[in-house]
Amino acid sequence: MKKPLSAAGIISYPARTVSQDENIGEVDRILKTYGHPGIRELLKIIFAVTRHMKASTYLVGGIVRDGLLNIQNYDIDIVVDGDGIKFGEKLAQRLGARLDIHEKFMTAVLILENGQHIDIATSRVEHYRKPAELPGVESGSIKQDLARRDFTINSLALSLTGKNFGEMLDFFGGREDLKNRKIRVLHKMSFIEDPTRIFRAVRFEKRLGFKMDKQTEAMARHAIDMEIVSKLTGARIRDELIYILNEDRPFNAIKRLYDLGALSKIGITQVISKEFVEDMRKAISSYSKLKPYQDRESVKWRLLLIMMLRDNNAAAIESWCLKMKIRRKDIAVITGSIKKMPEAGRELKKKIKEDSRLYDIVRRYSPELQVICHSRGGDHAKNIRRYFTKLVNIGLEISGEDLKELGYRPSPLFKEVLGEVLRQKIDGKISGREKELATAIKLISQLSKN
Ligand code: CTP
Repeated sequence: MKKPLSAAGIISYPARTVSQDENIGEVDRILKTYGHPGIRELLKIIFAVTRHMKASTYLVGGIVRDGLLNIQNYDIDIVVDGDGIKFGEKLAQRLGARLDIHEKFMTAVLILENGQHIDIATSRVEHYRKPAELPGVESGSIKQDLARRDFTINSLALSLTGKNFGEMLDFFGGREDLKNRKIRVLHKMSFIEDPTRIFRAVRFEKRLGFKMDKQTEAMARHAIDMEIVSKLTGARIRDELIYILNEDRPFNAIKRLYDLGALSKIGITQVISKEFVEDMRKAISSYSKLKPYQDRESVKWRLLLIMMLRDNNAAAIESWCLKMKIRRKDIAVITGSIKKMPEAGRELKKKIKEDSRLYDIVRRYSPELQVICHSRGGDHAKNIRRYFTKLVNIGLEISGEDLKELGYRPSPLFKEVLGEVLRQKIDGKISGREKELATAIKLISQLSKN
């Protein structure tokens, strides 16, 4: 048994045997770690189903790691030492939840009414339990399951099974590495077998404030130099990149990937200098500040990707995005923003007198480009701020419906006319429904004469 940890914030789970009754109290004690009452309730039910089925189940992966670090995590990952699908079916029944079964991999995903997922995997398909089986044999296959995982800190398992409830399985020194803030692979071939783990290592480093140990970093560098990362499919690179870019402070992870040489291997040629990191940091700060005011949602990963791709030509950006299997809709935002970037830089660098002109300009840009302009500071930021504090919510009291009711036939003219009425309203030239309507009628008659 590993020594319990004493470091602040890290909770130890000494392996121990308790009676069934004691277990209930134990459930509560242990589940307190997993903070959220909803999660505690779920784990209690999982425990009850485990007991009822006489199965062996384990809580594994991120939730165990984060529980030990006192970080909330709502992703429940269960490994069943037995038939995971059967267990999933029973649990789904008990929870009244939907179950998606993947026979081939012996896994199932349980989807609760609130959208929460519980992943259930099988660590061993055939399970021969002999009456005289020695204790410890039971954990043989869970050990194999854990041995296939990425890092020691993700290879911990918390037993949810009967008398072993609450026992922490730590075959690879995961708790020690949590204490020492180390990211360590379990075997030499880890990055070669699954190069996405290089991105995961960096993500955990920066999210948790950990560091790869020397050997692990050397293995990561070796795998990158051997062009292993380039062999990943675009979709897998895209997923890992998006996970990283959506982290709270992704700029350090991007810098780290650049320093490791991984970015160029996936076709991102941007030099991630200190200045560029600072630009990304400012953009994320602007993103958070503007988010509550933006009428169209800006997407963090798209914002940062726009910044990283901005020095490439349009054709190269599009072909990179296609290779990464980025959706058409996102590609359009990325390429559109980069195309308009120089114009936005020119337009917003000066003071713009008329409100309606500022409105027209800023409205043309994607939410991400608005954020980038704000992050440039100076007049750029002032203009964007003015747009969001004063102009973005101005709307007309009339619509095309009102014009139809007056007997006008719908045509593209409506859009033009209503746009002009809005401009006059923004500039304070008119106010109130009556004035809007009168202005619209006047404009229709003027414009239809032309
Ligand atoms: N895993 C792995 N190799 C990978 C991906 C995942 O070994 N390439 C294992 C790890 O044990 C991980 C678990 O599968 O803990 C669950 O994966 P995932 O949900 O992607 O990661 P989490 O560790 O839960 O991380 P996060 O907090 O970012 O969700």
